[in-house]
Amino acid sequence: MTDSWSSSSWDVHLDWRPETGRQGLADAMRRAIREGRLAPGAVVPSTRELAKDLGLARGTVTRVYSDLTVEGYLRTNQGAPTRVAANEVPDAPSRKQPTPRAAPWVPDARWDLYPGRPDLSSFPRAAWVSATRRVMQEAPARAFDYSDTRGPAVLREALSRYLARSRGVLADPERIVVTGGFSHGLFVLARVLHERGDRELAFEDPSLPEFRDRAASAGPAITPVGVDERGVQVSEIDSPAVVVTPAHQYPLGVTLAPERRTALVRWATSNGSLVIEDDYDGEFRFDRRPVGALQALAPERVVYAGTTSKTLAPALRIGWLVLPRMLVEPVRGALENLGWRPPALDHLVLADLLNSGAYDRHVRQRRLAYRRRRDRLLAALPGGITPVGISAGLHLLLRFPPDFRSESEVIAQALRASVAIDPLGRYWMRPGEHPEGIVLGYATPAEHAFAPAVEALMNVLR
Ligand SMILES: Cc1ncc(COP(=O)(O)O)c(C=O)c1O
Repeated sequence: MTDSWSSSSWDVHLDWRPETGRQGLADAMRRAIREGRLAPGAVVPSTRELAKDLGLARGTVTRVYSDLTVEGYLRTNQGAPTRVAANEVPDAPSRKQPTPRAAPWVPDARWDLYPGRPDLSSFPRAAWVSATRRVMQEAPARAFDYSDTRGPAVLREALSRYLARSRGVLADPERIVVTGGFSHGLFVLARVLHERGDRELAFEDPSLPEFRDRAASAGPAITPVGVDERGVQVSEIDSPAVVVTPAHQYPLGVTLAPERRTALVRWATSNGSLVIEDDYDGEFRFDRRPVGALQALAPERVVYAGTTSKTLAPALRIGWLVLPRMLVEPVRGALENLGWRPPALDHLVLADLLNSGAYDRHVRQRRLAYRRRRDRLLAALPGGITPVGISAGLHLLLRFPPDFRSESEVIAQALRASVAIDPLGRYWMRPGEHPEGIVLGYATPAEHAFAPAVEALMNVLR
């Protein structure tokens, strides 16, 4: 049941049910703004008025407004009424599209601890130039022709060796398709699965909303699966395919426990279902031996997905899918229908980096550097704040104690101090009372900016 709610200053239909609480109210307001029922520039009621009309505590409504302000939906000015933001919210979607969320938003801040990117200043420029020179000297003329849709064989062979030795993937080059990054591969896979009749695709809750929206735009309905301290809750999966981050759950940072790995593979093999393993930062494991890829346990039921976005740079737009045999041709066909032709020259350069050992050297060097950063960050944290997901990756989660400031207050304060961080709140799929925290990308700043960025963050948290 949805409530149509109105007040003296407002007459707006809000799909809000009282039992969904603060999260539900925030979602309902986002939807109303997205769908244009709350027009850009419109004044929204005061927190006091809305709280009274909805029978909520005023503090609850204040936190919703503060969340939506941080996300760019609302605009607040001291002494003036709160309004729907004029520019930040994209046009209302057409009926067929999924409801979009706030775009991945990287604030223009002095101290960048926003997750999702490596230290861009560490790109191995000299190694890339040397590899490019070698490719230009050695590549035959046919290398400059349209390439195989799956990517040039030389790259697929180099990836096959690299993935086998570094991640234990069973990666026959014939099963590898090189894509324009993970998000591109995810869209194509979602389209193929939808076209073969899979109407639903499950995602971990929480997970990256931009990827869920990307997959939904290919057709399937997106369903949530919970995550606890042992990883994705396999028994909750009720869709023919699921996207998971087993090595380092994004954003919570937990590693899928051994019995859950077994259960997930058993689920996929016994139901003929599919697991999409997003191994976005599997190379960066610090304290323990790397967890091998799930794919090796069931290569006909698991799609392994990797990317250069964390090891080298997101600008390259190079990722790969290692597919079950039955999906190779459908994925290739879907890519062709989308007009995809791989940027084969960049692919040849990457193949050279992999074959010469320069890629492994770069990853080893970055792993050491990011581990040092992680240790410095942990040492600087004030008491009471719990770091989670620290044993791997380029990000960690800071969980707040129960009596701490709200997530949105911390984000707003960080923005005032010109520190970019990411609220955990935006990752949840289902409304409800979720633990609060922030997601930190400690790989993001350049080396010289790391210590001052941590100091600026600590001033916000203290
Ligand atoms: C969870 C997760 N998977 C995958 C990726 C990589 O995506 P892409 O290869 O499209 O850059 C990212 C990048 O931020 C990510 O956060």
